[in-house]
Amino acid sequence: MLPGRLIEDRLQEAVRAVVPDADTAGVLVRPCPDPKFGDYQSSALLGLAKARRLNPRQLAANVLARLDVRDWCEPVEVAGAGFLNFRLKLSALAESLRAAARGAHLFFAKAAPPRTIVVDFSSPNAAKAMHVGHIRSTILGDSLARLFRLLGHRVITDNHLGDWGTQFGMLLVGWKRERDPAALQADALAEMERLYRKISAECRENPATLEQARQELVKLQGGDDENLRLWREMVALSRAQFDAVYRRLGVTFDHTLGESFYNPRLAGIVEDLLARGLARESEGAIAVFFDDLPLLKGQPALVRKSDGGFNYTTTDLATLAHRLETWRPDEIVYVTDGRQQLHFQQLFASFRRWQPAAPVKLAHVWFGSILGPDGKPFKTRSGDTVKLADLLDEAEERARQVVAEKNPELSEAERREIARVVGLGAVKYADLLPNRQSDYVFSWDKMLALNGNTAPYLQYAYTRVRSIFRKAEAREPNAGLVLGAPEEIALAKHLLNFGWVLEAAGAEYRPNYLCNYLYELAGHFTRFYETCPVLKAEEPSRATRLLLCDLTARVLRQGLDVLGIETLERM
Ligand code: ARG
Repeated sequence: MLPGRLIEDRLQEAVRAVVPDADTAGVLVRPCPDPKFGDYQSSALLGLAKARRLNPRQLAANVLARLDVRDWCEPVEVAGAGFLNFRLKLSALAESLRAAARGAHLFFAKAAPPRTIVVDFSSPNAAKAMHVGHIRSTILGDSLARLFRLLGHRVITDNHLGDWGTQFGMLLVGWKRERDPAALQADALAEMERLYRKISAECRENPATLEQARQELVKLQGGDDENLRLWREMVALSRAQFDAVYRRLGVTFDHTLGESFYNPRLAGIVEDLLARGLARESEGAIAVFFDDLPLLKGQPALVRKSDGGFNYTTTDLATLAHRLETWRPDEIVYVTDGRQQLHFQQLFASFRRWQPAAPVKLAHVWFGSILGPDGKPFKTRSGDTVKLADLLDEAEERARQVVAEKNPELSEAERREIARVVGLGAVKYADLLPNRQSDYVFSWDKMLALNGNTAPYLQYAYTRVRSIFRKAEAREPNAGLVLGAPEEIALAKHLLNFGWVLEAAGAEYRPNYLCNYLYELAGHFTRFYETCPVLKAEEPSRATRLLLCDLTARVLRQGLDVLGIETLERM
């Protein structure tokens, strides 16, 4: 068992012995932010004392009398008005490292019980190239899915493709009238975008074209054979291009149920909302009103337009119903940009009224924009949105230059593979590192730097650790484990915190916690490696240090994998 968890269990037991009816689920033990005070701490007794009007120091003394952690900790200290500080014995620290070396754990525990979590992410719109705006949803959503999976949850990923909607009326007009087969062949999404732009501009000037587009849409929605066939073709072409990007990014989905999948259910949902008195008519449209919710007062959610068409919220209600019936999730996580906050507030509020008993947690995990160096939304030099595929090309190209300068002796194929891993890693890491709710400025130089909090730095740290093992002749790594140098102890204690960080990152949907943890890990490793010789040390130091190197490499690799970032043996 991991020491932090063990201390927490024993503390909860002791609290129950002193206050038998206390709910100890909130009695938590956490890593100490300042190692001066200890390795772990708990402030739980303060809250408990307050709630029960007990003297906190007295409560702490009574709990301590019942708490036996002598096998793992130095004598427990009570600080201030009832904080408990725990300091691990070196023997306990060594025992945890040994358990990790045996493969019993990698400093984290699987969630008990596991939960079923649906992650709705990426979700681009058909007939449009995926642009940088979709990159954050794809990278962040993929990382959250990997994180939940690692923690033992049952994860279902669903790409909620925007494959249905009014844009298809205009696209059908353009497609039938002037699609360019050669251009379609070369770059299908670019050609569809051209058609869409052309016809929508025409619609603004010419009411006849607008009417034509409306009729094509009515025909499509009415199930017209030809329009359905063309629509299917357009969606298939879009998906092929999205899939190429996903393959490159190493992102997979269990399901890609686009908006169109839910179309047959929409009318019934509006009828049901009306029948239950949850929605009402307003100026010809149907909407759910939230006059009793201060946050949403005056902002009804439209579920049917006055022309009979349905809204984004209607589709999302149908999607929710389908997911609950099919997968029975404990939690659904939606990853989109911050501009959709109102939509999800309305959706969640509508859903709670519609199905008040559904025991599902709903979370909108939103993020800010990517900005250009001028502080405005990131655009190409000509002012277009940056296409994701082009961005990844450029990342690899720039990484190739960095690699070529550093390692001119590598073969071309090796260089290309390193550049791929480093370039993609840099883009992903730059996206995951900032607090997701703030905007960040896109900077090639910053994200590709070999020094600093970047993917290349961490990947490089990994190769450095691995290179030690290429030089070490094989020896039994359990020759003995003796921790002595402060740098060894600091590194070991940081390794032990991996699980807390994973859990916190999952609970708050913030992979940036993990980024910072890995960066600090690389820092601890550097300090350790600079002060403690490994291969030239005497036993048992040599074995101890090799073990620390090995565990550092494994945690780095596992952590980067959660971020969707690959590692290399050399670079
Ligand atoms: N297609 C939408 C967009 O590009 C994102 C969909 C997010 N998921 C959802 N269930 N609404 O903005």
